[in-house]
Amino acid sequence: MIFGAGKPLGGAENIRRIDNMKRSEINKFINEARVLFETHKFHLPPFAYWSPEQWQGVGSEAAEIRENGLGWDVTDYGLGRYEHTGLLLFTIRNGNYRLKSRYPKGYAEKIMMVREAQITPWHFHWNKREDIINRGGGNLVIELYRADDQERFSDQSFGVSVDGVEQEVVPGGKVILEPGQSICLEPYVYHTFYGQTGGGSVMVGEVSDVNDDSNDNRFYEKLGRFPTIEEDEPPQYLLCTEYPSPS
Ligand SMILES: [Fe+2]
Repeated sequence: MIFGAGKPLGGAENIRRIDNMKRSEINKFINEARVLFETHKFHLPPFAYWSPEQWQGVGSEAAEIRENGLGWDVTDYGLGRYEHTGLLLFTIRNGNYRLKSRYPKGYAEKIMMVREAQITPWHFHWNKREDIINRGGGNLVIELYRADDQERFSDQSFGVSVDGVEQEVVPGGKVILEPGQSICLEPYVYHTFYGQTGGGSVMVGEVSDVNDDSNDNRFYEKLGRFPTIEEDEPPQYLLCTEYPSPS
């Protein structure tokens, strides 16, 4: 673990949109994630492997999957440069603030694939407290600022908990998580992360409060959360935003 000041990464100001994501790329990235998860013996639930044809026959019994955004989520944050700025996630469980009486679960869990030098851009959450966990592979680099009253980068140092041990982080400081290590990211703590160069992709876990992508992501730069997709081949698996309504 290393602490120190780093230059902000992940800003969108110098990133030129190259292209939409192609469905063939999404299929490939999901299959790469499957290999990574299988390599580290992290098993996904059955709905991870339901085909689009199988989904056509799934009824309201799977409403929890549809309504809480469970499943595959591959994003380039609308920038069209997935391998530079992007993330692959599988949401395993989640609650739902909008439908809280039906889904009172107060927590969420995800597994993610973060590639070497693949940036998840600077953001914080107003409500969600999340533990980011290196579950295997290379090292995960996380850079941090506390947000100030105007939701900009604060120039104040602050404390974070790394596996139950309080650490002081300077503005823009880095925490490097080796496999097995985790950090608790409190609300209003800006974070960006990427796989450390030379170590390969990282299997990253997230255990958190309810995940609400519609209302609880405060990106430092204005970014999209989901990709625009060019359908150059059929989807092998549907993304969490693509499930058909029950017939
Ligand atoms: Fe986050």
